[in-house]
Order: sequence, then structure tokens, then C-alpha cells
Amino acid sequence: MRHILLVSGSGAARGNTAALAAAFADGARSAGHAVESSVLDGELNGCLGCGACRRGAGSPCVQRDMMDGLYPAFGRCDTLVLASPLYFWGLSARAKAFVERLYAISVEDRYPPRDCALLMTGGTDEFWAFDKAEGYFRFFTAALGWKFLGGVFAGGCTGCEGERGIDGRYLESARALGAGI
Ligand SMILES: Cc1cc2nc3c(=O)[nH]c(=O)nc-3n(C[C@H](O)[C@H](O)[C@H](O)COP(=O)(O)O)c2cc1C
Repeated sequence: MRHILLVSGSGAARGNTAALAAAFADGARSAGHAVESSVLDGELNGCLGCGACRRGAGSPCVQRDMMDGLYPAFGRCDTLVLASPLYFWGLSARAKAFVERLYAISVEDRYPPRDCALLMTGGTDEFWAFDKAEGYFRFFTAALGWKFLGGVFAGGCTGCEGERGIDGRYLESARALGAGI
């Protein structure tokens, strides 16, 4: 049984990314995994680069925001699943801020081992739409020593200019990834 932390970097509570994340969580719970979900819809800043977290082992981040709850949640998980809308061909700023703030948990530039997966939604329905974002995620997680378990990349979503919509086959894929993870 896995302890999964599912972090969603979309501000839209009933958006496409939320739907994809919910399908993944359904699948994972059906397979007996514990899923703790967090939506990055509150105050969350990027890393200041102040170096305070480098002033001795266990020095905490000086910022007080959503990460106060997310650091302990991250500590409890063995598997991190990041969900994000595709913004300008990359992760959303909220998702990126969460990634940056993990800097504070490293000790001598080493990070606790985790398995990980990525869920994304985007408007473009081209095979290359998620290449940069997926490549970035896979690159930095490999650099941290994490194992990539898979991803679901839901292109062709309809977006915030009208009614949101996501193709059901992507929800099925997310459910299957969760169930098989
Ligand atoms: C600021 C912004 C930037 C976006 N950039 C892209 C993009 O680069 N490529 C793309 O295919 N879709 C892009 N989109 C569309 C979203 O990725 C898409 O609508 C997504 O499903 C929204 O997820 P949500 O419903 O969880 O908010 C963008 C939307 C916004 C609001």
C-alpha cells in the first residue's frame, strides 16, 4: 500500500485538472492506497533563495504559507503525484512554487527518496503539447533521485473561456494509473 500525496496546482476547484486528479485518486483508493490530496489554492510563494534553510540541518523555510501543511504531508508520503494545468507549455506557477519550496527539505543537496507521477491538462491537442512540461518534471525528479511511475497528459481540454471539459478517456487513464501504481 502506498501513501500518496496528490498536489494539484490548478486554482479551478471544478476544473479539468481537478477532474483528472479526482479520477487518479479514485483509482488509487480502489487499489487500497492512501491518498492525501492538497489543492494549491491558497497563499503559496516561490523560493526566496534566502538560504535560511541551509543554516544547519533541519533549519526550516522562513516563509509561512501553504507549505507549512505540505512539508509534513510530503514527509508522510512515499509517492508524490503532481497535477497541473499546462500554462505556457510548462507547469502552473503554483505547481512550480511547490517544487521550488522542496529545496528546504534537502540535506546537503540530497532529497528523501520518492516515487512520483504527473497529471496534466491542456488546451492543445497536439502530440507535442506536453513535451517541455513532462521533460522538465522527469528531469528534475530524476535529479532528485526519484522514480517516475507514469503520467497522464490530457490534451484538447476546453478551458476557462467557456465550459471546461476533458475527454473521458483521459479520466479512465488517470483512474488506471492510480489503480496500477
Ligand atoms: C494562463 C493560461 C495559460 C495556458 N497555457 C496553455 C498552453 O501553453 N498550452 C495549452 O495547450 N493550453 C494552455 N492553457 C489552457 C489550459 O491548460 C487548459 O484549459 C487546462 O485544462 C485548464 O485546467 P483547469 O481547468 O484545471 O484550470 C492555458 C490556460 C491559461 C489560463
